[in-house]
Amino acid sequence: MKRVITYGTFDLLHYGHINLLRRAKKYGDYLIIALSTDEFNEKKGKHSYFNYEKRKSLLESIRYVDLVIPEKNWEQKVNDVKEYNIDTFVMGDDWKGKFDYLKKDGIDVVYLPRTPKVSTSKIKKDLKLQGK
Ligand code: CTP
Repeated sequence: MKRVITYGTFDLLHYGHINLLRRAKKYGDYLIIALSTDEFNEKKGKHSYFNYEKRKSLLESIRYVDLVIPEKNWEQKVNDVKEYNIDTFVMGDDWKGKFDYLKKDGIDVVYLPRTPKVSTSKIKKDLKLQGK
């Protein structure tokens, strides 16, 4: 069984996220999302609209997703890939090159092209402009 992992905040779930998860799942049989906790988001200077539990339950209802675990810091990836026996690490290409250090542990590291013209921050900005 091939196991894949990806990381992110996935706030205000949108079709760019779904595209990413569908393509990530194709790299294996079991897809894990390490979902940024509210505390970790604050450290990154992000404030999510939906809290961790709500974001988690949305992700768990997606057919491509098998398990959601918390992402609490930047450093946990090395441990996660060992603990969960990961074969492939997938991220959107806004992170291109950033996690190549995992290759030395024998992990395939894949950066997928982002879906154009959609992001959580764009949705927030656009809705604010509309005043809705
Ligand atoms: N992603 C994607 N295409 C998009 C938006 C996101 O492929 N249009 C991917 C990211 O590259 C990442 C994952 O979805 O691998 C989760 O991204 P996240 O940062 O949570 O979503 P964004 O919409 O990029 O949020 P923000 O605007 O707050 O950065």
